[in-house]
Amino acid sequence: ERQETKLLYDINRKAGLFYYRKLTSSQNKGLQYLKNRGVGSNEIKAFGLGLAEDRWNSLLEYLTKDNYSEETIEKTGLILKNKKGDRYYDRFRNRIIFPIFNTRGMVIGFGGRVLDQSLPKYLNSPETKIFNKRKTLYGLNLAKKNIVSQQLILVEGYMDVIALYGNGVKNAVATLGTSLTKEHGQLLKKYAKEVVLAFDGDEAGVKATLRSIQILENEGLKIRILSLGKKEDPDDFIRRQGKDTFYRRIKESPNHIEYQIQKIRDNYSLESTEGKVDFSKEAIKLLQQVKSPIEQEAYAEEVAKELNLSKESLLKEIREKNQKYT
Ligand code: UTP
Ligand code: MN
Ligand code: MN
Ligand code: MN
Ligand code: MN
Repeated sequence: ERQETKLLYDINRKAGLFYYRKLTSSQNKGLQYLKNRGVGSNEIKAFGLGLAEDRWNSLLEYLTKDNYSEETIEKTGLILKNKKGDRYYDRFRNRIIFPIFNTRGMVIGFGGRVLDQSLPKYLNSPETKIFNKRKTLYGLNLAKKNIVSQQLILVEGYMDVIALYGNGVKNAVATLGTSLTKEHGQLLKKYAKEVVLAFDGDEAGVKATLRSIQILENEGLKIRILSLGKKEDPDDFIRRQGKDTFYRRIKESPNHIEYQIQKIRDNYSLESTEGKVDFSKEAIKLLQQVKSPIEQEAYAEEVAKELNLSKESLLKEIREKNQKYT
């Protein structure tokens, strides 16, 4: 049992090195791809990036020559059986490889990206005895050593973490194509007091932001939201605008309450009375969740301004309903 776990770690480490050497030991289309995207040798080294060649079983051959059985290798998810069930082949082929490390620096799984427009764009290792996506944050092994102002930045993708790192922002982590879990929240809390949510600017990113706020709030983390353009992600942003602008945007970013007030306001037209009433109802519900009376009052002031109401009448409503319903 412990023996098997150790074998899985060993195989992953060797596979990671195998892919790394394929990428770095001679000129190839993987290196060219990364270069075109602005990923340099520092990031390749820090993240241990690699290349899976366009062949059916080069990793399988390599590992079996090293005396690992196919049955054991299969348990890492690195190889699969063909349809007939009589042969194994490599899961990752013709892809850039992103090894996924735990916080102790051991390789627990892999992500792989195509070099062109083919689909699926990313492929990840399946869940294994040593790889649980719900509990893993990509880049945390590096980010935990580079915490700035007790903050971690949470992004969507591998390339976001790497682009930020390459541009000097080394405290970013990503989920692995899944939504944020309670376990992720607990892990973030272990290393930081504040999380900056910097998801893609598309609708999916906004939805993920709203879901993540609830989870992070439950862990007692402070939360800020960095919003990006509709077709933009942190990778695009930092390459175009640079590190200083990125940090300035974090500094200016709203906390989760301010962000949610904005979001609610975007949903209603404050031109009409009906819109105003609906907006105020939702805002009241939101502000009832704010525990500190001082903060509650400050936000109430903002909302009152929008509505041309007095802060007092709004606060009264917030606090009366609180008593009625809690
Ligand atoms: P995105 O579609 O935003 O990709 O997915 P990206 O990170 O910006 O990728 P580039 O810039 O085109 O290379 C964000 C994350 O969602 C997961 C991956 O973890 C990815 O980094 N994902 C995405 C998958 O697991 N599978 C997919 O097919 C696509
Ligand atoms: Mn996306
Ligand atoms: Mn993206
Ligand atoms: Mn994208
Ligand atoms: Mn991207």
